[in-house]
Amino acid sequence: MRRCLPALIGLALLGCGAPADPDAGAEAGPEADAGAPHTPRPFTPTEATRAYCPGDDDAIEARITAILRELSVEEKVRLMAGAGLELVDGTWGVPGDGARGLPGLHMLDGPRGLSRFSGKRGTAFPVAMMRGATWDPELERRVGAAIAIEARSAGADVLLAPTINVLRHPRWGRAQETYSEDPHHMAELAVAFVEGVQAEGVLASAKHLAANSIEDTRHAVSVELDERTLREVYLPHFRRVVQEAHVASVMSAYNRVNGLYCDLNPHLLRDILKDEWGFAGFVESDWILGTHGDGESVRAGLDLEMPSNANFRFMRRALLAGEITEHDLDDAVRRIARAQLCYGLDARPRTLDEPGMRETPAHLALAREAARRGAVLLENAALPGGGDALPLDRATVGAVVVVGRNAAVENIGDDGSSSVTPTEVVTALEGLEAAAAPALVTHLPGDRVAPANEAAVRAAGAVIVVTGLTKDDEGEGEIGAGDRDTLALPASERALIAQVASLNDRVIVVLEGGAAILVEDFVDDVEAILMAFYPGAQGGHAIAELIFGDAAPSGRLPFSWPAREADLPAFDNTSSIVAYGYLHGYRHLEANGTAPRYPFGYGLGYTTFTVGSLALARPVVGPDDTVEATVEVVNTGARAGRATVQAYARAIGSAVERAPRDLRAFAQVELGPAETATVTLGFPARDLAIYDEAAGAWVVEAIDYELAVGTSALDLPLTATFSASE
Ligand code: BGC
Repeated sequence: MRRCLPALIGLALLGCGAPADPDAGAEAGPEADAGAPHTPRPFTPTEATRAYCPGDDDAIEARITAILRELSVEEKVRLMAGAGLELVDGTWGVPGDGARGLPGLHMLDGPRGLSRFSGKRGTAFPVAMMRGATWDPELERRVGAAIAIEARSAGADVLLAPTINVLRHPRWGRAQETYSEDPHHMAELAVAFVEGVQAEGVLASAKHLAANSIEDTRHAVSVELDERTLREVYLPHFRRVVQEAHVASVMSAYNRVNGLYCDLNPHLLRDILKDEWGFAGFVESDWILGTHGDGESVRAGLDLEMPSNANFRFMRRALLAGEITEHDLDDAVRRIARAQLCYGLDARPRTLDEPGMRETPAHLALAREAARRGAVLLENAALPGGGDALPLDRATVGAVVVVGRNAAVENIGDDGSSSVTPTEVVTALEGLEAAAAPALVTHLPGDRVAPANEAAVRAAGAVIVVTGLTKDDEGEGEIGAGDRDTLALPASERALIAQVASLNDRVIVVLEGGAAILVEDFVDDVEAILMAFYPGAQGGHAIAELIFGDAAPSGRLPFSWPAREADLPAFDNTSSIVAYGYLHGYRHLEANGTAPRYPFGYGLGYTTFTVGSLALARPVVGPDDTVEATVEVVNTGARAGRATVQAYARAIGSAVERAPRDLRAFAQVELGPAETATVTLGFPARDLAIYDEAAGAWVVEAIDYELAVGTSALDLPLTATFSASE
């Protein structure tokens, strides 16, 4: 079966019926190797190549050297580009070389489950931003493993995920696809996801390197940023998935960074990723318009053009022109072959379609668990008659009226490359209806309560407004809706909230969307607000469990929620050059003394916690030490709940501009009523380092640091000071 990705293919002005010919390299000119025969350089495995390879690394490297000795230039170039624009049997292929034991690669998105481009149905997990809101790397590891199993069952051996671009602004169309505004939080989730995927024998692909956080101009924009900002804000999580999780591949971004397209950017791909970090895997381009050169891209560090050889078919020209040598091709081919052989793809039969591995009861339960754990309770007012707006007691609430544009919508995320086609989606309305008995649920569709229904709304025990955004409001560029135009809710939905709030005193707003949506217009008129993101195929059940109190909300915001868009750095999705400053998110708000509506790390539950007795393991830390603290957490409420304890560090008297605080560690604990636990928070002292541009080195300033501990970026009641030594 051949499938085509219509919008992007249209964009590339190429027809679906005319796949690129993977053998086209052969037409590209006279023999470059007509002169002296080429001898590949001997290869000595390094610590990094050994760590990368779950297989028998030294033997594999020797095998690759032998293969390189045999391959012609044409054969090497053929291995360095995808087999064509079309998916074949539901995956994007990269040619192998059967005679030499190279099986090739088969790729599929993505970040929230088996790609819809596979033509197969799979579990739609909550979007990554919702999983980021769980602040639970172990849960994310299980999600990664489940997505990998489903991708493998559909014939893929490379999963095009995770997306780990920093959320710089909530209007970014792909906000939903990533985990966080914060590099430390992002890294914790992403490392776990990659490890979970790769433990299933599927190669992960961290994307998009780098600074890819605007959709509408993604093919043109140059993100301009200084070296410190690049290193400290936009790259740390990429380094960690490389060095800690040994991610198999990295995808270069469409955009430019400091003037150079990412696939042409040797500073990013070669100097930093490959040379400094020791990345031993391959770099593939983003799809179709993500490769801008042939030899120049290879010299910059791009190994694989995807999904076809539109540019790389001219590689021979670059060789003849002396822009690259055959050794450069050897390096790229070695990386691509290493990935195939280290993951044993040559030794395992490829499954083309094993539907029994997808949407299993375990995967659906995991999707539901992730949705339950990621929803963030933003408001929960005390009711005049006693008790809080949430949870609803189904035995006493009586009638529940459900309104809002998303109540009955299968709202599982954008229409972009991360989209998934599940067999069934449980909408919020269906979830509430299934869980409500003996309470009665009435759905009133439309964006206005008709006069005839006003009495029912007045009489209801509660009104639930399921609203927010959909794939028509935000998503990937070209194949989705692109960037958001505004952070506001549509005016008709705000009017609906105002209307029901004038009729009923227990109004619960359930917001869906990828990131922050302004609530200033209605926050004082409603009794509760639950952020439910795009909660996946089982999301309706998870929302109902939280609303009826079968489970307690424990999600925490992985981004700051502003009161006004003007409080954030400007979002510019029209200019061809956009400057990214050092500060965004909570760092920017705090530096400006601006209060967010809800801070980074914030979220309510059905119980309360206090933290106390902060103790540091050592008052002075050397550069190779761990900063370690313990803190006591007490559940002071009447219900069980999960606390997320967060530790932020502040540099006191730094010689350079710093963020007021940076998240450095977090940990979770589940506590019953009145229970206490001691939680340990730790991080390597080198995480405190700043990048010294003049010296080209990371430096931990030998100054004092304040560690502030609490339950959100703005609720940090405990502090302790330590110093760093040279
Ligand atoms: C996206 C990538 C995706 C690729 C293949 C591109 O448009 O930017 O994230 O992996 O398509 O679907």
